[in-house]
Amino acid sequence: MAGRTRTTKKLAQRINLNYFKTLGGIPRWRRILSGVFVIAGLAWLGWQALAGSPKPYNAGPLAHAHALLGQKCGVCHVFEASYRRSATDQACLACHDGPIHHADQTFTPSCSSCHVEHQGAFRLASTSTAACTQCHADLKTTHGTSKLASNIRGFDGSHPEFAALRQGLTDPGTIKLNHHVHLKDGLLGPNDPVQLQCADCHRRDSLDRSYMQPVNYEKHCAACHPLQFDRRFSESAPHKEPKVVYDFVFAKLTEYIAAHPAEIPLVDEPDKRLPTRPPQPPARNAAEWVQQRMADAQLLLWRKSCKECHSVSYPNGRGSLPVVAKAAITTRWLPHATFDHEAHQMLQCVSCHVKANESRETSDVLIPGIQTCQQCHRTGQDAAEARCFECHTYHDWSKGKAVAGKYRVKQLAE
Ligand code: HEC
Ligand code: HEC
Ligand code: HEC
Ligand code: HEC
Ligand code: HEC
Ligand code: HEC
Ligand code: HEC
Ligand code: HEC
Ligand code: HEC
Ligand code: HEC
Repeated sequence: MAGRTRTTKKLAQRINLNYFKTLGGIPRWRRILSGVFVIAGLAWLGWQALAGSPKPYNAGPLAHAHALLGQKCGVCHVFEASYRRSATDQACLACHDGPIHHADQTFTPSCSSCHVEHQGAFRLASTSTAACTQCHADLKTTHGTSKLASNIRGFDGSHPEFAALRQGLTDPGTIKLNHHVHLKDGLLGPNDPVQLQCADCHRRDSLDRSYMQPVNYEKHCAACHPLQFDRRFSESAPHKEPKVVYDFVFAKLTEYIAAHPAEIPLVDEPDKRLPTRPPQPPARNAAEWVQQRMADAQLLLWRKSCKECHSVSYPNGRGSLPVVAKAAITTRWLPHATFDHEAHQMLQCVSCHVKANESRETSDVLIPGIQTCQQCHRTGQDAAEARCFECHTYHDWSKGKAVAGKYRVKQLAE
């Protein structure tokens, strides 16, 4: 068998030295197809442009709440040869209001600078921190600098401690309550010793599940602190203004002695719970009997029961009816922010309200400070949301206007 001669020359002859000038196989097809696709694309664009269709301009999927408007670009954009103009505020306002933040803000950012569209299915209201810090990092108002913290750059060291916790402020409520005494194990209950829980006195409103309902005497105190006024009656006096209480007790005693006239001359031993009083002579008639018992009942009520929980004063003199101070229970401690107990129900109450178990005075403020929140609400991964919208509203919805709908079902549903 004659062997193949593999000289350099022979080898060179087998190579097409012009291979780079001709195309074959895959490279050729690549070229042809690119051309075809470009031409087809241009043809489609031209066709869509002639038909006035929005398809070529789609910038990305709309937010979930606007999904219905997917192909109705015109509700937000004005078509002027192309959809280049960004959406106007008027277009947004046709469907829902977006009331102003503060009357004294120095400018009003456009809706779409905060509510960024075409980013897909996320909440439009989840605006960036920068949307707020563009003003709050150096806060100015139409009449100069603000009294508020004016250099907030994030929910970090630059965010101020909550106003209610700043130095020297106390709880303005007047209902006396010693949390420490009431949370001790073995507190004397209506029948047996009990261990009270926070939820025995504090529950979320069934409608507004964010905040706690204010404490109520009938629901949370009456079982252990009844308003007894006389040993002859097991029922309590009403928990009302002193005048109402007075009239109720007076009517009860008058009714009683009319039904039991034989008891008129009997003398009552002074009640052990009462502040000391001079001994009473036997009553001569029903009116005198009622007067004597009224004096005891009032000592028991005003100077013992009511006074235990209330600040009681006598602006009209010692002998007159007392005045009970307004309860003034604060229902919103952080009025410039929103808070939601339901979103935090996985936590123990005292892990935020750390001072509750030890508090002995109503004047103690038990609301947690910013450092408690910052442990979870911080930037970075594995953290709860820390952008401003999580805890604040931007729009002053109290100034919101009703929108007169301008579209018909067909216009939006097709
Ligand atoms: C709910 C209102 C809304 C609808 C509906 C909507 N857009 Fe937009 N679009 C916006 C907003 C707001 C912007 C401004 C960009 C931003 O900051 O999100 C925008 C920006 C754009 C841009 C970029 C413009 C530029 O100048 O950079 C294009 C292109 C666009 N939209 C096309 C469309 C098309 C095409 C449709 C229909 C398929 C559509 N949009 C539907 C709200 C809307
Ligand atoms: C054709 C009517 C229509 C137009 C125009 C429109 N929206 Fe909406 N928008 C809706 C509807 C419907 C919802 C969902 C119901 C609701 O929350 O009010 C919604 C919800 C929202 C929400 C709350 C939902 C969320 O994801 O946080 C924001 C914020 C919003 N729109 C901003 C805008 C902005 C900004 C524009 C202008 C660029 C705009 N919208 C234009 C109809 C419209
Ligand atoms: C500086 C940023 C900012 C600007 C500008 C802005 N928004 Fe908002 N918007 C927010 C934030 C934050 C929320 C969520 C909290 C709230 O309700 O204020 C929100 C909520 C909304 C909601 C949803 C209310 C709901 O159902 O929860 C609508 C609708 C809305 N904005 C419309 C508008 C419109 C319309 C404009 C323009 C006129 C506008 N926004 C301008 C930040 C902004
Ligand atoms: C255009 C500038 C501007 C932007 C943007 C802005 N703010 Fe404000 N903000 C103000 C002004 C002005 C005040 C009132 C200051 C005063 O009265 O002293 C204020 C007050 C506040 C207050 C305290 C008073 C109140 O109403 O509760 C909070 C909280 C607040 N802004 C949060 C936000 C959040 C959250 C954002 C972003 C979604 C935001 N701001 C965006 C200008 C702005
Ligand atoms: C016997 C009823 C009772 C129980 C049990 C009770 N509280 Fe209270 N709490 C009150 C009353 C009454 C007030 C209003 C008077 C005051 O401010 O002290 C109040 C006020 C509060 C306040 C708001 C006032 C402030 O100064 O911050 C917080 C927070 C609070 N309680 C947390 C708790 C927690 C947490 C528990 C459980 C560990 C608890 N409470 C158990 C009756 C109770
Ligand atoms: C489970 C029974 C129980 C309930 C419910 C209860 N208390 Fe008491 N409270 C007591 C007992 C027992 C004492 C006496 C404790 C002591 O001195 O050791 C007391 C004492 C008090 C005192 C005097 C405390 C002190 O400083 O020594 C006040 C004030 C008071 N309670 C207010 C309230 C108020 C207000 C409520 C309702 C929000 C309430 N209590 C609910 C059982 C209760
Ligand atoms: C064990 C504690 C306790 C005793 C005792 C008590 N109260 Fe109260 N009182 C409360 C609490 C708690 C509130 C606030 C919530 C409510 O209205 O139930 C209150 C509220 C009131 C109010 C309404 C105050 C306002 O803000 O307008 C009046 C009036 C009142 N009490 C009168 C009385 C009178 C009169 C007595 C005595 C006969 C009395 N209370 C005894 C706990 C008590
Ligand atoms: C994540 C921390 C946190 C936890 C957990 C928590 N709270 Fe609060 N609580 C707060 C904050 C913040 C406020 C102030 C809200 C406001 O009034 O603006 C508050 C307010 C209160 C108030 C005053 C009334 C009100 O709603 O503003 C009471 C009472 C109260 N909490 C009781 C409780 C009880 C009871 C529990 C357990 C079931 C609990 N809290 C769990 C943070 C917490
Ligand atoms: C985790 C919740 C949370 C976040 C996130 C948050 N704040 Fe606050 N912020 C609060 C609370 C609570 C207050 C106290 C409100 C009060 O005292 O009524 C407050 C108070 C404020 C105040 C009033 C300050 C003063 O001088 O009293 C401003 C302004 C403010 N925040 C702006 C912002 C801005 C801007 C951001 C985003 C960078 C932000 N907040 C993020 C919870 C939050
Ligand atoms: C143990 C961690 C933890 C602590 C501490 C904590 N939070 Fe939260 N918070 C969460 C989680 C988890 C959510 C729900 C998920 C989310 O929004 O990221 C939430 C949600 C919220 C929301 C939104 C509620 C809603 O319904 O949209 C507010 C407002 C808030 N927190 C404020 C606060 C404030 C103010 C404090 C401090 C007093 C605080 N949080 C402390 C974990 C925490």
